[in-house]
Amino acid sequence: MTASPEIEVRPALPGEARRALDLVTPAAAGPASEDALLYANLGHLVVAARAGAYVGLCAFIPNVGRCAALLPPRLVEWDEALAARLIRAAAREAHRRAGALLVQALLDPDGPPSVPAAYEGAGLERLATLVYMRRPVSPDDRRLPSDRELEWKPYGRLRHREFARTIEATYEATHDCPRLAGLRSVADAIATHRSTGTFSPRAWHVARLESRAVGVELVNNLQGRGELVYLGVVADARRRGIGRALLVRAIRDTADMGLPQMGLAADAANTPALHLYEGMGFKEVRRRAAWFVPKEGLAALAAGADAASPTGS
Ligand SMILES: CC(C)(COP(=O)(O)OP(=O)(O)OC[C@H]1O[C@@H](n2cnc3c(N)ncnc32)[C@H](O)[C@@H]1OP(=O)(O)O)[C@@H](O)C(=O)NCCC(=O)NCCS
Repeated sequence: MTASPEIEVRPALPGEARRALDLVTPAAAGPASEDALLYANLGHLVVAARAGAYVGLCAFIPNVGRCAALLPPRLVEWDEALAARLIRAAAREAHRRAGALLVQALLDPDGPPSVPAAYEGAGLERLATLVYMRRPVSPDDRRLPSDRELEWKPYGRLRHREFARTIEATYEATHDCPRLAGLRSVADAIATHRSTGTFSPRAWHVARLESRAVGVELVNNLQGRGELVYLGVVADARRRGIGRALLVRAIRDTADMGLPQMGLAADAANTPALHLYEGMGFKEVRRRAAWFVPKEGLAALAAGADAASPTGS
């Protein structure tokens, strides 16, 4: 089924969100879900209307570090082509109005195929399958043996550049969402890492070996657990036990914060990282498919092109 040409897709006017949401959420769905409330409170919404009646909407959440998350489109009746138009319009707003360079969406990897097809039709591409992992942490983990060769330095304003340089060096030959390379600056990536849950600078460390920075581990408090927002070793220092030492340090940081659990997300294609995490007792809890607007697609969004750019590029 294709979308009728008379359907108008446009940014919602102020105050329009609640009304649009009520009309596209069937009464049978019962009390407003958390997701619906989130939508209603958003100003960043695009709506689809036919002859003045709402037939669909899509929202995005802008975040610091020039990124934005697209929420799933809601339609009165599922229509893949209309869903693609809504997703594209929301992505365009996220890029043009909110200045996002990383525009992404997380999908259920086992959902119906017409959902990813709509994202593809909107010009997004599959970035990665993300594996979410957890590990219990106990006060005893504070005594995990630390690597004696490494010198540990916590994050501080005066060390920001050393963190930024080291994080950038860990992107070389990475298996961790490599297609994100060059999309945003490392300063943007750090800003996003800082904004995940509660930033605690004493749980961010750079590791030095013979006075040279060789890796970082960054842990935040996310909903009462220690979230490993990033861990990386510079390319020429890999396979010498530094990744494991960083992870041990991250577990100790979590135990020091008194948190009972650690969480992280890794690219399912990142075999080195998955082996490292599994080896330290992390277990998979769920998967999500991450989709994003590739660099070439951003230019088309900026130009306001309506049709999805050719895929497979
Ligand atoms: C993943 C990463 C941190 C591993 O660091 P490292 O210092 O090379 O890891 P270590 O030498 O401490 O190895 C620890 C374990 O990791 C696993 N591992 C590391 N490299 C591996 C590889 N190339 N292939 C398979 N397993 C690997 C192994 O289980 C290894 O244990 P073993 O040596 O007993 O076999 C590093 O490759 C890296 O920084 N990559 C780029 C950034 C990244 O992917 N970060 C993770 C974000 S989720």
